[in-house]
Amino acid sequence: MKTHLGKTDTREHGSESSRRAFCKHGALAGGGLLLAAAIAPALAADAASRPAETSGDGPNDTIRTIRGLRTTHGNFIDQEISEQALQAILHASVRAANASNMQSYSIIVVRDRQMMQNLCGYRGSRLLLYCADHNRLLASARSLGHAYHPDNVTAFVTALIDTTLAAQTAAIAARSLGVDYLLTNGVHRGDMSRHWKLLGLPEKHCFPVIALVLGYPTTEPESLKGRLDGTGVIHEGKYHHVTPEEAEEITRIYDDESRHLWLESGENWKAEGHKHYLDWMFTVWQGRAAKRTETPTQMLDVIKRLGYLET
Ligand SMILES: Cc1cc2nc3c(=O)[nH]c(=O)nc-3n(C[C@H](O)[C@H](O)[C@H](O)COP(=O)(O)O)c2cc1C
Repeated sequence: MKTHLGKTDTREHGSESSRRAFCKHGALAGGGLLLAAAIAPALAADAASRPAETSGDGPNDTIRTIRGLRTTHGNFIDQEISEQALQAILHASVRAANASNMQSYSIIVVRDRQMMQNLCGYRGSRLLLYCADHNRLLASARSLGHAYHPDNVTAFVTALIDTTLAAQTAAIAARSLGVDYLLTNGVHRGDMSRHWKLLGLPEKHCFPVIALVLGYPTTEPESLKGRLDGTGVIHEGKYHHVTPEEAEEITRIYDDESRHLWLESGENWKAEGHKHYLDWMFTVWQGRAAKRTETPTQMLDVIKRLGYLET
C-alpha cells in the first residue's frame, strides 16, 4: 500500500485485513443491510420516537443514557436519521469542553453511503468525520495579520483532545435521541491519503481522528459490553502499580462471561484453544503489538507531513 509520501507500508496492510474482521457485523456486512432493511423500519420508527434513551441504570436520565451507551458495529439499516436529530447531535457535539475555547477541530458531515464506506469501511445513515484542525484558526490569524504557528506536538495533542471530546459528546447526544452510533478509527486503516483526495482536506494541520457513523441498528444488542472499573483503571490518590496477583485477577475477570468484556470476534476464544480471553486478545487480536515497531508507520509519515512534529 502507498503512503502519503509514496512509500510502501506493508505493516499497515496486514493490520487492515485483521481489523476489517472487527466483528460479525463488520464493515463488509454492508450487503446484509439490504436484507435487514425489510424488517427495520418498525425498529427505526420506534427508536426515533423515544424521547430519551435510558437503557442503563442511574439516578437521572443523563447518567442512564451514558451507562446505556453501546456501539453498533456497522449493522445499520437503510433508514435515515432525521435532519433535526442530526442538527441536535452536531450542536450538542460542539458544546464539549475544548482548550482555550478555540475548538481545534472540524466536523465533516458525510451523507453518501459509498463515501462513508471509502472513508472508514462502514456505512450508516450519516457519518461525521472528526478532524483535529488548525486551518480555521490559521485563517483568522492571517486575516488579522497575526503570527500563529500550531507546528508542534503540543498543539496536535491538544487538538486531538478537543476533537475526541466533541466526538464522544455527539455519541451521547445521539443515544439520548434513540440514534445509534459507531465510533471507528477505520479512517486510519489502508492508505490514508484517500481522505485528502476524497474530501479535499488541507495539506497541513488537519488530521482525521475518528469517524462517528450514525443510524439505526438491525438488531438490539443482547447485553451491554462490560467495563473494568476497579484495580488498574481507577487509582485512588496516587498511581497504583498492578501486582502480579492483581493481573491474574484481571485475567479472571476477563474470562468471566457474565462480565461481557469479550469482543464479538473473540467470543469463541475457548473453542479456539486459548486458556484465557486475554491470550486471544494479545495473540490474535493484538498480534501486531507482540512485535516491536521497527519501521516507520504510515501514521508517522502523515503526522510529519501535516507539520505537527517539531524538527
Ligand atoms: C478509537 C476507537 C476505534 C473503534 N473502532 C471500531 C471499529 O473499527 N469497528 C467496530 O466495530 N467498533 C469500533 N470501536 C467500538 C469499540 O469496539 C467499542 O466501543 C468497545 O468494544 C466497547 O463496546 P461498547 O461501545 O458497545 O460499550 C471503536 C471504538 C473506539 C473508541
